[in-house]
Amino acid sequence: MKVLGIYGSPREGGNTDRLLEQALNGAQSAGAEVSAIRPCDLHISGCIECAGCDETGECVVEDDMGAVYPQLLEAEVIILAAPMFFYGFPAQVKALIDRCQAMWCRRRLNKGPQGMKQYDGGKGYVILAGATKGANLFEGAKLTAKYFFDALDMSFEDGVYVKAVEEKGAVEKRPDALEEARLLGKKVVE
Ligand SMILES: Cc1cc2nc3c(=O)[nH]c(=O)nc-3n(C[C@H](O)[C@H](O)[C@H](O)COP(=O)(O)O)c2cc1C
Repeated sequence: MKVLGIYGSPREGGNTDRLLEQALNGAQSAGAEVSAIRPCDLHISGCIECAGCDETGECVVEDDMGAVYPQLLEAEVIILAAPMFFYGFPAQVKALIDRCQAMWCRRRLNKGPQGMKQYDGGKGYVILAGATKGANLFEGAKLTAKYFFDALDMSFEDGVYVKAVEEKGAVEKRPDALEEARLLGKKVVE
């Protein structure tokens, strides 16, 4: 099983990095073929809504996203990890997501309006962390994630949500969360 991890934080070695590391280790130990990308290290510009992908399902913008599309399509499982920035995804992750409009068009062209939402593209999970404790902390990002995975015809399977972690390394004091992430990694392979 091919599992792709998306390290969505600009803070290398931060809380969501550590959680995703655990999840990918868990997946690998359960036999998955694991790979990862870090959008913040790539040059991915936002969608310009040029409609260039409408009739082809291929984005016309030339940047590092060109190499990301095949990885998204090949993955049977995607685990998207990111900190909450203003109750949403960091801009670098959101740019990657917005550029998946081309994947949304691709699916429509390949499957037709009736054949969409078969969710045979695989399964999507999230690992989200934030500094605060509000009841709705992850709601916005969960909705965005659901439709990111939807564009790839992947079902959104929920994930691990960690509140009240702020400074780099804070998650080390939360062995329960790290273990939950490791178990998530194992679970996605089953
Ligand atoms: C620009 C910015 C915006 C943030 N917005 C929120 C927020 O809306 N809610 C929240 O709980 N934490 C917010 N935080 C805190 C981070 O989500 C938190 O520190 C998280 O643990 C960082 O994870 P990381 O180490 O993986 O980057 C914000 C941090 C930054 C830098």
